[in-house]
Amino acid sequence: MKTYLVTGGAGFIGTNFIYYLFNKYGSNIRIINYDKLTYAGNLENLSEIPDDYRKNKNYIFIRGDICNEKELNILFNTYNPDIVVNFAAESHVDRSISNARRFIKTNIEGTHTLLETAKNKWLNKNKWKKGKLFLHISTDEIYGELGKSGYFSETTPIAPRSPYSASKASADMIVKSYFLTFKMPVIISRCSNNYGPYQFPEKFIPLIINNCLNNRKIPIYGDGKNIRDWIYVEDHIRALNMIIEKGKPGEIYNIGGQNEIDNISLAKNIVDIVAKQTGINIDDSLIEFVNDRPGHDYRYAMNISKIGNKLNWKPEYLFIEGIRKTINWYMKNRNWLNEIVNGEYKEYYKNMYENRIG
Ligand code: NAD
Ligand code: TYD
Repeated sequence: MKTYLVTGGAGFIGTNFIYYLFNKYGSNIRIINYDKLTYAGNLENLSEIPDDYRKNKNYIFIRGDICNEKELNILFNTYNPDIVVNFAAESHVDRSISNARRFIKTNIEGTHTLLETAKNKWLNKNKWKKGKLFLHISTDEIYGELGKSGYFSETTPIAPRSPYSASKASADMIVKSYFLTFKMPVIISRCSNNYGPYQFPEKFIPLIINNCLNNRKIPIYGDGKNIRDWIYVEDHIRALNMIIEKGKPGEIYNIGGQNEIDNISLAKNIVDIVAKQTGINIDDSLIEFVNDRPGHDYRYAMNISKIGNKLNWKPEYLFIEGIRKTINWYMKNRNWLNEIVNGEYKEYYKNMYENRIG
């Protein structure tokens, strides 16, 4: 039975990944979800995992920090994971601008601690144990920003511009160095902006949906012309699973949605779809321009020909399908949203918003 160690499994993409694996492989696998439960991690997310999986130890949750070497050693000795999938991270650019300390700690030091632990457990008398893989989840943001044209490919030089992306880029380079130096079986995936169920409503798409549902203003940074390439989370996860199954150690794979749109058009589209889908009486007047994010990257866009050619992956969701599913999920899960917005996030949101009104 394959054992997956999923770090950050109580966050947005980790949660979706765990459900995907159980849907696909059922009780033929074991998943250890190791998560610190920061503001972004929510155990409620995983409440739909069947009780049998918990009883039979197909699913085990451990609250812990990827910076904690002692605990990770015990975890590896106890469960002997085959596949490590490292989602755990501080993930929000705006928070990294307010205070980068935790980003440096978790994203760089934490990734290194996890990598080093896996290396020590998987390397036996100069030979790597069979069937092991360390998949590090990175981001397109490590490449920096693009102008109006061009795409990031796996060989584009790393040029991060925010404390978040700089911390992710550092982790990438450390992970790559373990392949080049020790031949450790690592793979790095770099994906564009995700959206879908369970995403914390500080990120742009769930923030727009949440504000529409609550008739609140939607803050657009700067002139709203910045461009992102949006991917439905399930497409990302399908790619990750293919990488685990068929990817080549030492390689980097770009993943993207092939769906570029500027922020203001995206916000207008979503307001329109939410209005139609819910019957709530809202329109573009909810949208408000606020001060720009410092160092705001202009455009991200991915060349995904490598993963297409080598692993036969491409995104399947049309944006309109993905966004409808996402809006439906947030409508059905108003409690989930309210818990978050009424919790720690409320104060944060209030401050962010008040600070940003132009
Ligand atoms: P998220 O913020 O929703 O979740 C992060 C999870 O990591 C949370 O559950 C949190 O509790 C946990 N965590 C944080 N610090 C930890 C620590 N020190 N030890 C253990 N657990 C810790 O993030 P997400 O959007 O799900 O992103 C997951 C990964 O994917 C991140 O590495 C991120 O950089 C990367 N990524 C995200 C996107 C995106 O659009 N969301 C795109 C590309 C790459
Ligand atoms: P975000 O979801 O924070 O992802 P990232 O910065 O990692 O790409 O933001 C997506 C885009 O939306 C980005 O260009 C910043 C912009 N944005 C706003 O205009 N207003 C907001 O309130 C937020 C959170 C983001």
